[in-house]
Amino acid sequence: MELTTTANGFVLFSLITLFGIHKVLWILLDISVCLGQWSDWWTYTGFSGPSNWRINKDWILCSEGKLQSPINISAESLLFDPGLKNIIVTGNKVSGKLTNLGNDVTFFVSSTDSVSFSLGPLPYVYKLSQMKFHFGRKDGMGTEHSIDGKQFDAEVHLMAYNSDLFKNYSMAERAPRGLTIICLFIKTSRDTTHTELSKITNMVSKIQFRGNTTDIDEISIQSILPANLQYMTYEGSVTQPGCYETVTWILLNKPAFVGEHQLNALRTLRMDTPDHPQLFMFDNVRPIQPLHRRTVRTNINTNIKCPIKREIQYMVNKNIIKQ
Ligand SMILES: *[C@@H]1O[C@H](CO)[C@@H](O)[C@H](O)[C@H]1NC(C)=O
Ligand SMILES: *[C@@H]1O[C@H](CO)[C@@H](O)[C@H](O)[C@H]1NC(C)=O
Ligand SMILES: *[C@@H]1O[C@H](CO)[C@@H](O)[C@H](O)[C@H]1NC(C)=O
Repeated sequence: MELTTTANGFVLFSLITLFGIHKVLWILLDISVCLGQWSDWWTYTGFSGPSNWRINKDWILCSEGKLQSPINISAESLLFDPGLKNIIVTGNKVSGKLTNLGNDVTFFVSSTDSVSFSLGPLPYVYKLSQMKFHFGRKDGMGTEHSIDGKQFDAEVHLMAYNSDLFKNYSMAERAPRGLTIICLFIKTSRDTTHTELSKITNMVSKIQFRGNTTDIDEISIQSILPANLQYMTYEGSVTQPGCYETVTWILLNKPAFVGEHQLNALRTLRMDTPDHPQLFMFDNVRPIQPLHRRTVRTNINTNIKCPIKREIQYMVNKNIIKQ
């Protein structure tokens, strides 16, 4: 927005004296948003970055929510839960559209193809709807979640909706128990090529700019997920506006290894149209959110000698005796 000319400067000055600086910022914002869409407005840096996602009233959870994601997981305070079952993955190959959304690259699974997740911490059956990629400009700063303060190179979100209760993703995303996101950490390795993910990374030249989209055929979800699905789980939110707190997060314990050249391909993606070729998509990572006393449970059995269950029983009994 150009407000540098004398005339505009004078108008702005008068507006500020009349309404105060905050009101004026709101008015300017309303004007700029009127010209486009809220969904086009937010970004990961600058004025439209995460600390200002609060500006749209519909995104109140982004600033006021108490169950926000991502979080920093402290390995020490993970709670081993022997009741957590294995996750069942039903189905395998999916086709769909890979789209450059500006803030991320998303693979939208065709609604006629079906891969579902159930059991584990999930009370319902969840159908895979999208796969989103988050990555940094260089290794070690590309994940949204961190473990003991450590980030990995990239993070893939397999986003699924509760298909027992809802018709599609958009109906489920605001509803209790609506979503699950399976989070796969990515590590790069110089001499590898991840064959299945190359079906996506080979397509980057077709989706360089925001709005570009291309078809993807037959990606095998079973070969993207590690064989041994040990995981950590907690209740959190979508990591983009409106930050809905409807997500059962499942963070897989094993990373996937992709070639450095594959991640470098994603790093060439732009977040805007060819008018602004210098704006890159990388670093599309929301900062860590407060845990607010949430518990992160795991089925990773770390050989606990004295089961937690028994200790809790002892403590309960002791309290009863005291009363
Ligand atoms: C993440 O948690 C670890 C402890 O597990 C802590 O040392 C570190 O400072 C935390 N980092 C952030 C960014 O909160
Ligand atoms: C989701 O389902 C509802 C109700 O059937 C429908 O109105 C809406 O258009 C659907 N949304 C999408 C994105 O398919
Ligand atoms: C990508 O989008 C831009 C407009 O932003 C367009 O000029 C270009 O042709 C598109 N590329 C492809 C491969 O569709």
